[in-house]
Amino acid sequence: MDKLLISGGVRLEGEIKISGSKNSGLPILAATLLATSPVHLYNLPHLNDITTMIALLRCMGVGVTIDEKMCVEIDPAHIEVYEAPYELVKTMRASILVLGPLLARFGKADVSFPGGCAIGSRPVDIHLRGLEAMGATIEVDGGYIRARAPQGLKGAQFLMDKVTVGGTENLLMAAVLAQGKSVLENAAKEPEIIDLANFLVSMGAKISGIGTDRLEVDGVKALTGCAHTVMPDRIETGTYLCAAAATRGSIKVKSTRADILESVLIKLKDAGADLHFGEDWISLDMHGRRPRAVSLRTAPHPAFPTDMQSQFMAMNSVAEGMSKVTETIFENRLIQVHELNRMGAKIALEGNTAIISGVERLKAAPVMASDLRASASLVIAGLVAEGETLIDRIYHIDRGYECIEEKMQILGANVRRVAG
Ligand code: UD1
Repeated sequence: MDKLLISGGVRLEGEIKISGSKNSGLPILAATLLATSPVHLYNLPHLNDITTMIALLRCMGVGVTIDEKMCVEIDPAHIEVYEAPYELVKTMRASILVLGPLLARFGKADVSFPGGCAIGSRPVDIHLRGLEAMGATIEVDGGYIRARAPQGLKGAQFLMDKVTVGGTENLLMAAVLAQGKSVLENAAKEPEIIDLANFLVSMGAKISGIGTDRLEVDGVKALTGCAHTVMPDRIETGTYLCAAAATRGSIKVKSTRADILESVLIKLKDAGADLHFGEDWISLDMHGRRPRAVSLRTAPHPAFPTDMQSQFMAMNSVAEGMSKVTETIFENRLIQVHELNRMGAKIALEGNTAIISGVERLKAAPVMASDLRASASLVIAGLVAEGETLIDRIYHIDRGYECIEEKMQILGANVRRVAG
C-alpha cells in the first residue's frame, strides 16, 4: 500500500492549477443517466471516486469514451442493468446518487445500501422519504434498496427536515423527469448543487430557485445530451490555501473561483493571510508570518464547510493562540485529533468541539489517514513538522486530491509517494 513521505519545514511558494470538483463531478456523472443522447463533460478530475462512478455507469451499459482533450463522452442511451452493486457502493457512498436518476428514467433501481463510514453512520432516510413522496415504493431487502415506480414518478412538495447535499441532489435528479411540479424545501445550497442544476437545465430540465433553499421543478418528458464544464474544486482550493497559510508561505491557485469559498477566505483573512483574487485565481501571502488561531463552526453552505474543518485544525495546531473548532455536520469527524496530537499538537476534545492551543511547531511521526479530509490535515501537519512524516493509508487522499504529491512539489514541498 502506498504511503506519503513528507519532509517538513518548507514554506509553500508558487502557482498551481486547481482540478475540477469531485463533489460536483460525481452527481453530474450520475445525472447523465437521465439523458437519452450523449453528454460531453470537461474538467472532470482524475480521481479514484470519479473512476468508480464511471465504472458504475459502465456496468449498467453506459458507453464511455475519453478523447485527446480529456473530454469524457457518456452515452446513456442503452441501459441494460438498473443496479448499483455492493462491490462498488462499499468503496464509494456517493453511488447512492444513481438511485434518483434510474428511478426517474426507468421506474426501477436496485442500489446496495451504503453502510456507515469512519465519519459516522450517514443515513439516507431523507433520500428515500423524498422518493416515496414522489410515488415510489421502496423496500430494503438483502442489503439493497429496491425502488420501483412502474408508472413513473409524480411531482411532489417535500420538506427535507435536515439539510442534505446528497439528498437534495438525488431528489432534484428524480424530480426533473417526474410528472408535474415538485417543490424541494430546505434544500442544500452548496455550489456543487448549483453546478448540477445548471447541468440539468442544459439537458432541458425546468428548474427555478437554483442557489436557494427552495427548488421548484416542472417535470419534463425527456432530457437530451449537452456539453458541460465541471466547476473547480473549492475544497482542493481551500486545502492548498490553508496549507500555504500553515507553512507561512505565498501561493497562487489558478483555474478556481473565490466566490465558491467565501467563508473559508474570511477565516484565512482572520488568520492573517493577505488575499487577492481575480476571476479565476486566488493568491495568498503570509509574508512569512505565523498564522493566528481562528475559531470556527461547521454548518451547511454558505457557512463554513465540514470538508475544510480538519485542514484548519492542522493550521490552528501551529497558530498563535487558542481556538475552538466545532463540528456540527458529522458525528465523528474530529478523528484527526489523535494523530495530530501524536505529532505534538495540543488539542483537547469536548464533545463535538476541539480546543486547540497552538504550538510553535509539530514533530514528525508515522501517522494513519482515516478519511479523505482528515488525511489532508495530516499532509498539512507533515508540512509544518520537524522531520519526516510517513502517512499510511493514503488511498483516502487519492479519493479527493488529484496529483497531490506533484502539486505539492510544484509548491516546493518535499512530498514523495513510497511503496509500503
Ligand atoms: C456531501 C459531500 C461531503 C460533504 C457533505 C456535507 C459529496 C459526494 N459528498 O456528502 O464531502 O462532507 O456533503 O457538506 O458531495 N443525513 C441524514 N439523512 C439523509 C442524508 C443525510 O440524516 O438522508 C445527515 C448525514 O448523516 C449528515 C448530514 O445529514 O449528518 C449531512 O449529510 P449530507 O449533506 O447528505 O452529506 P453527503 O451528501 O453524504
